[in-house]
Order: sequence, then structure tokens, then C-alpha cells
Amino acid sequence: MNKTKGRMMTKLTQRFQLGKTDIRIAPMGIGTWSWGDRTFWAYGVTHSSQDVLEAFQVCLEAGLDFFDTASIYGFGQNERILGSLLEKTDKPFIIASKLFPFPWRMTQESILRGIKGSIHRLGRKPIDLYQHHWPLPPLSIEHWMSAFAHAHELGLIRAIGASNYSLKNMQRANKELDKFGLSLASNQVHFSLLHRKPEFNGLLDACRNEGVTLLAYSPLGQGLLTGKYTPGGLRPKGMMRLGSPKVVQRIQPLLEIMRQIGQDHGEKTPAQVAINWVLCKGALPLVGAKNARQAEENLGALGWQLTEEEVSALDEASQEIQISFPMEYLVGLS
Ligand SMILES: NC(=O)c1ccc[n+]([C@@H]2O[C@H](COP(=O)([O-])OP(=O)(O)OC[C@H]3O[C@@H](n4cnc5c(N)ncnc54)[C@H](OP(=O)(O)O)[C@@H]3O)[C@@H](O)[C@H]2O)c1
Repeated sequence: MNKTKGRMMTKLTQRFQLGKTDIRIAPMGIGTWSWGDRTFWAYGVTHSSQDVLEAFQVCLEAGLDFFDTASIYGFGQNERILGSLLEKTDKPFIIASKLFPFPWRMTQESILRGIKGSIHRLGRKPIDLYQHHWPLPPLSIEHWMSAFAHAHELGLIRAIGASNYSLKNMQRANKELDKFGLSLASNQVHFSLLHRKPEFNGLLDACRNEGVTLLAYSPLGQGLLTGKYTPGGLRPKGMMRLGSPKVVQRIQPLLEIMRQIGQDHGEKTPAQVAINWVLCKGALPLVGAKNARQAEENLGALGWQLTEEEVSALDEASQEIQISFPMEYLVGLS
């Protein structure tokens, strides 16, 4: 590993251990939610199937081999698109997917059916990492984890992950999995300069101490941290995106600092600074890209390192502008 200004630098060629498993992944994962999702991400309006294919090719060619999806994204369309893209490549890859706790998924059998649905759409068995998407009631964490342990026993999934789990839920999950000789590989949560809760509530430290990989979703604040959305200018397209005009206004001073810091590292962009900040905190970012241009820019977040002083400056500038998704309040994450 190279060192820069006294700190460790993350390189594209590095591979990270996923939890305590034997699975190794690139330092940055590709979030594929926008690949096929029309409602939230305006697929078909802001980007096409050709754009998605090109983004996928850029990532895989560069060595990014870890793709995150979910059965609910595009109501299955997302898994189908990813499955068909992966079918055409000879390069090795790792897939993560998730199961949403719909009210009709109450029994272990129905959870297994849900996992088999993902396998069918992705054309991949076992799925490398399978995650419980949201810990919503009425089923307990223990119920979900024992169903996933069963799926592991049946060879449907290689590793078990959580998503949107609080520290307490993560500990409950690990305790249940321990009964099966397993452990939680990852916890996928909202983590960016605009949402630093995992840092403040002990989740990030606990992940580090307990050997659970923290997968950071929405590391670009769903596009806000790229700096392209401006007061009175461009607005995010799609439903329920982060970024009210008020928020866009409030983050401008932070973006200015990100631009200055980026300049000092040879014209790095705010997007690259935002992703690098997540890496500096010891989390693995899951970054969305709608096309080749965005994917290429995001790759430039690797191979260099913010200094401790720069991380502190960004911490300070972001302290007062923290935003959450409404669902995060429901599961005790905000
Ligand atoms: N577990 C969960 O509950 C959960 C929740 C959210 C996300 N996730 C996962 O995390 C992944 C990433 O999060 P996310 O997609 O919400 O947000 P994100 O990675 O913070 O932002 C992605 C969006 O930002 C814009 N963008 C990306 N790179 C850009 C660039 N270089 N220049 C300009 N714009 C750029 C694009 O949208 P525009 O061009 O439209 O701005 C893109 O779709 C998802 O795909 C999903 O796999 C999981």
C-alpha cells in the first residue's frame, strides 16, 4: 500500500475482506439502484439501457467488481438488468442483493421464496451477499437471521448482510447467527458527509471492532455532493430524492470547501472528495452512476488520500447540515 502525507491510500487494485468471510471485494462498490428504476431515478428519462451498459463496462474494466442491487429496485427489473449484464462478461464479480420485508413475507418459507426469486432474476446461485433490506415490524431480527442462515445452509447465499440496522439490531443479528456458526458480514447504511449518524452513534466503531463491513450507501448524497444541483438551477429528477431547495442552498458552503480541497489534489471534483471522505472513515462506499461519464469521474476517488486536516475541515463544515430518509426514523437510525 502507498502512503500519502502520512496516511494510507486506497488503490483500485486492493481487495477488502467482506466481514469475516472469504469474499474479497474492490474498495468501492457500484450501487445499481438507478439501473432500471423509473420511479425514484427516472430510468428511461435521464439515462437509457445503453448508458447503463456503458457505466457497467467502465466499472468492470477498471476492476470494480462489487455490485449492489435489491429485489425491490424497479420491482425486480434492476436484478434482471444486472443479471443480463453479468451474463455477458468473463470477468469475476461479486453480487449483493436484498430482500424487502413485505407483509406477505411472514414465514421462513416465504423468505426463502423471495431469495429464490433474486437468484432467478440474477441468474446466479449462490448470491454472494444477501441482505435484509429494512428491519421493519412485525418480524423480529432473529426470525430474519434464522431464515437467512437456513438459506445459507441450503447453498442459496454465501454471506449474510443487514441493511439499515442500528447498533442494537446488529448485535441481535450477530447473536442469532452465532447459533448457526455464522456471523453478519456487513451492515449497509446511509453514510456520507450529509449523513454522519453512523459515526456519531457508535455504529461505525462497532462495525470495525466486530469485523462487520460497513457498506456506505448514498455516499454522494444522491448527487447533491457532486455540486451540480444549485439554488435556482438544476433540480434532481425522480421521486423522493434527497435535495429540497433549502438543503441545496445550505450545502453550498460545504461544496465550496470540497472544491478548494479538490484543487489541492490536482483538480479532484466534489464527487471524488465526497467518496474519498467515506474511504477515510473506514467504510466501503456503494456509489451510484447512471452513465459512463459519472462512473469514470467516480473512479477518480481512488488512488489518493485526503489529509487528516482536510477530513477535519470537511467534518466541521458538514456538522450542521445533516439529512435523513424518512424510513431511517422508523428503524431507530435517526
Ligand atoms: N440499503 C438501502 O436502503 C439503500 C438506500 C439507498 C441506496 N442504496 C444503495 O446505495 C447505492 C448508491 O446510493 P444512491 O444511488 O442512493 O446515491 P449516490 O451514490 O449518493 O448518488 C448516485 C446518483 O448521483 C448522481 N451521480 C453519480 N455520480 C455522479 C457524478 N460523477 N457526477 C454527477 N452526478 C453523479 C446520479 O444521479 P443524477 O444524475 O440523477 O443526479 C446517480 O444516480 C444505490 O444504488 C443502492 O445500491 C441502498
